Amino acid sequence: MAFPCHRSMNPRPKTLVFLLVGLSFFTLHLWFLQAPMSQEEGVRDLAVDALAVQPSALNPGVLCVANASVNATPDFQQLPARIQDFLRYRHCRQFQLLWDVPNKCAGRRGVFLLLAVKSSPENYERRELIRRTWGQERSYRGLPVRRLFLLGTPASEPRERWEQLDELVSLEAREHGDVLQWAFADTFLNLSLKHVHLLEWLAARCPQARFLLSGDDDVFVHTANVLRFLEAQHPGRHLFTGQLMDGSVPIRDSWSKYFVPPQIFPGQAYPVYCSGGGFLLSSYTAQALRRASRHTPLFPIDDAYMGMCLQRAGLAPSGHDGIRPFGVQLPGTHRPSFDPCIYRELLLVHRFAPYEMLLMWKALHNPKLSCS
Ligand SMILES: *[C@@H]1O[C@H](CO)[C@@H](O)[C@H](O)[C@H]1NC(C)=O
Ligand SMILES: *[C@@H]1O[C@H](CO)[C@@H](O)[C@H](O)[C@H]1NC(C)=O
Repeated sequence: MAFPCHRSMNPRPKTLVFLLVGLSFFTLHLWFLQAPMSQEEGVRDLAVDALAVQPSALNPGVLCVANASVNATPDFQQLPARIQDFLRYRHCRQFQLLWDVPNKCAGRRGVFLLLAVKSSPENYERRELIRRTWGQERSYRGLPVRRLFLLGTPASEPRERWEQLDELVSLEAREHGDVLQWAFADTFLNLSLKHVHLLEWLAARCPQARFLLSGDDDVFVHTANVLRFLEAQHPGRHLFTGQLMDGSVPIRDSWSKYFVPPQIFPGQAYPVYCSGGGFLLSSYTAQALRRASRHTPLFPIDDAYMGMCLQRAGLAPSGHDGIRPFGVQLPGTHRPSFDPCIYRELLLVHRFAPYEMLLMWKALHNPKLSCS
């Protein structure tokens, strides 16, 4: 599940440059303030070594035209415009890769865990904080972790703002080497395309990555805990785990973001899946999903789509107690908890504002943190 957030911003380029410069200084400042890492965490390794970032040769652009036959779908004209749009372009599954990182997984030690974060062009701040906190590219006790942000193109923005966001994504891609961007509109109903394209990219560019974390850009991940869990798993065996969604029913209210009409899914309940806020999978399962997805028509709800692909592959997802995409609520309280002692035991939690991510990361790595 992604919750795209559109903030209004002064569209003048000068202001944007000013803002970016300001943010970089702020980031640098915080970086210098960062407390030294504990022994167990090990040292940052030279991950950004000559990552050749470039517009990609994978998936040369194939123009995909709207399917006019969908007009014959029963009650098509009554469907919301976005659903009509989904149906018209449902068959388009191969979009050009605009920004690639072909060498992301190069290096002698390979990649143990690849963090694949669904983001959208305007969520710059979230990406920046993830880079500084749980998404750092480094090794934890010898296990290399790498990071990627999965982006589409800015959706329905005015021309001027579109150009600014495009420039921003280019800056980030060049500077950090962690952006995969495809030429499809970054909308909620297009999210399944990110999974489909990532699975193909993995097979082409990074087949040796042992595990994958797929998540939203507003989750908090306790990376060391994720690694501790994965160390006991086998990359060559099936693993797909997260917050289990069993018996989820399609939402039939057309105003809902999750609306799926019977014309797209006539059934009573989705196959079992894991909430898309964050889940973990093995290299074995990523390959099985890639094969299955080729035979599974795209679906407007991306995490349910993963469940459909798993079902087709004859595999079942499993639940993990440490993965809480719906946040942590203590008994008797109404607000999500912000106690680091709770997060110390968890793997992944939804949903965090960028500043909360920084505060929680610092709190968890504070040697003076004491929990009874
Ligand atoms: C176009 O839509 C029709 C009706 O939904 C469908 O039967 C057909 O397979 C679609 N064509 C493609 C290329 O997906
Ligand atoms: C998905 O992306 C394609 C390509 O940009 C676009 O034509 C289509 O309208 C998008 N679909 C939805 C439902 O947003």
